[in-house]
Amino acid sequence: MTTPTHTTEAIEALFNEARKFPPPPEFAKHANAQPGIYEEAERDYERFWASWADKLEWMKPYETVLEWNEPFAKWFTGGTLNASVNALDRHVRAGRGTKIAFYYEGEPGDRWTITYSQLLDDVCRFANGLRKLGVKKGDRVAIYMPMIPELPVAMLACARVGAAHSVIFGGFSPDSIVDRVNDSHCVALITADQGWRRGNKVPLKANCDKAMESTPSVRHCIVAKRVGDAVEMQDGRDLWWSDVVAEQPATCEPEPMDAEDLLYLLYTSGTTAKPKGIKHTTAGYLVGVTATHNLVFDLKENDVYWCAADIGWVTGHSYIVYGPLCNGATSVIYEGTPDFPDKDRLWSIVERYKVSILYTAPTAIRTFMKWGAEYPKQHDMSSLRVLGSVGEPINPEAWMWYHEHIGGGRCPVVDTWWQTETGAIMIAPLPGITTLKPGSATKPFPAIQADIVNEQGESVPLGGGGYIVLKRPWPSMLRGIWGDDDRYVHTYWSRFQHMYLAGDGCKRDLEGDYWFMGRIDDVMNVSGHRISTTEVESALVDHPAVAEAAVVGRLDDVTGQAICAFVSIRSGFEGSKELGDELRRHVGEKLGKFTQPKYLTFTQELPKTRSGKIMRRLLRDIAEGRMLGDTTTLADSSIVAELQERAKAAAAAGKDE
Ligand code: WT7
Repeated sequence: MTTPTHTTEAIEALFNEARKFPPPPEFAKHANAQPGIYEEAERDYERFWASWADKLEWMKPYETVLEWNEPFAKWFTGGTLNASVNALDRHVRAGRGTKIAFYYEGEPGDRWTITYSQLLDDVCRFANGLRKLGVKKGDRVAIYMPMIPELPVAMLACARVGAAHSVIFGGFSPDSIVDRVNDSHCVALITADQGWRRGNKVPLKANCDKAMESTPSVRHCIVAKRVGDAVEMQDGRDLWWSDVVAEQPATCEPEPMDAEDLLYLLYTSGTTAKPKGIKHTTAGYLVGVTATHNLVFDLKENDVYWCAADIGWVTGHSYIVYGPLCNGATSVIYEGTPDFPDKDRLWSIVERYKVSILYTAPTAIRTFMKWGAEYPKQHDMSSLRVLGSVGEPINPEAWMWYHEHIGGGRCPVVDTWWQTETGAIMIAPLPGITTLKPGSATKPFPAIQADIVNEQGESVPLGGGGYIVLKRPWPSMLRGIWGDDDRYVHTYWSRFQHMYLAGDGCKRDLEGDYWFMGRIDDVMNVSGHRISTTEVESALVDHPAVAEAAVVGRLDDVTGQAICAFVSIRSGFEGSKELGDELRRHVGEKLGKFTQPKYLTFTQELPKTRSGKIMRRLLRDIAEGRMLGDTTTLADSSIVAELQERAKAAAAAGKDE
């Protein structure tokens, strides 16, 4: 296994963590998940999932729970259903139409509430508009939007007419839009004029305009008005959202979808420069997100649930849109950043809507820690009863701070491990049953069979670490990579026989609790965003001044990892601060601002093996300021001393920023 992203001391520290938090008795008594659930799911895991499938509304019942033709799964075959019906119509018909689906809060402070019946009306109108534009079952539609109510409406409207959505996070650049849209030939692109971020305007439509110069499959661009400044609209191609829905009826016949029809694509970074279009299908995905959202967060009818993620990532797909809506939950959607206008914004939202379940990321929690406990203290947060964490390993210190300063010491903290590929939470506590340990995601969800294996694929006894694998199919699993079955098989199912390889390192303690240690491949995790080292390297070498680039992750107190780039430049160019800024800008333009290297070191040469392979492990050591291990395979050892000096200087400069 390659060097894990955490230092050995950090791993050992995790293992010395002895604090335990059994479920509060009152909580346990009323919890959705009661003891026995694990055993029951183990007795017949297909039946366990089927019991959740039976809670969905089917147009035609399914015939078979699982057809497993490893590594291709089909769940609930023979059945037809529609995701938007399960998210909306079902609840309205059951008399919950006036229940609030979303409390929406915009960054500038605008607020409104949307009930289930209003949301259904909006989805139907927009779905009718899409149909009128010729969008139909089997198409793909790209969505590049800020966190405004039109975003879930657009997703659900696609689902209603049977088109798969492909949401592209609003922080991505025009080039990234082009790659994703062209990979799956999207027929339409849905966006907004601009978005708000920390008081600044994000030029979403302008980015789409640039992208659409190179996306021949896009026939229409639909633009929701968010900010109100003038934007360019191309006749015939571009349409205002308000015109698309004008005069459309508030009812719309939902497309019957096969259980295995594509619900959406979501692109995620792998170890190459080309992102993978992860495929999620209809029934199994809904079953997975509904069950996990209900049981891991212990969702009750009167909860106010808030997942403070962006819908542009899988967390938002599963736990802002599909899971909560299928469970008929009331949720909060917040458009902006946590420090606008001040660092108590999140806590003022918790207080205003009496949020009872909060789901956020360790990087956010560490930021709040840095800002200080006085910000949450200004607000009444006694409504909170469950806290969740997702996106990266949570260090015990951050866990304890979250538990104490946000949860008032009374709320279970559920650390949830999963991935874009798994669709739903795989390893997490059930808060009424599980004894929590700060820093541990604890146990596999019922019916999930996980294991830790060594290089040979052998199960590692409790107390040891290795690769986390999943040994049995689950309903919300990815069905493959768009257009690339070989890559699917190769990436996830070829390293070990009959096991799904997630790509994370993990340890298990003597009680069988899982402690995640970060990625084992060339994928970085910066603020919970998955970024491929190769993607950033390609963006760097795309600049005329760059000869070669190597990118590694470096531990960061706040963002988990920070991007560290080593760049050798072509003759005729000088490694200056200006060039560094320009390269950062260039990466920002190629990929998106959030992928800009925090640390950038210029070098004559990159350290390579004699066969010419860049020695990333060595660069990681240099980036972390660690003692260097074995350097005997180096082609030219003089590079190392120089690099260490320069990296130290770059790190110092980065710290001062
Ligand atoms: C990778 C997946 C899951 C939604 C957000 C990210 C890391 C995620 C945890 C956790 C330790 C975690 C893993 C995983 N990760 N949650 N609770 N503890 N690591 O989705 O972009 O697909 O990234 O995020 O490394 O492989 P993603």
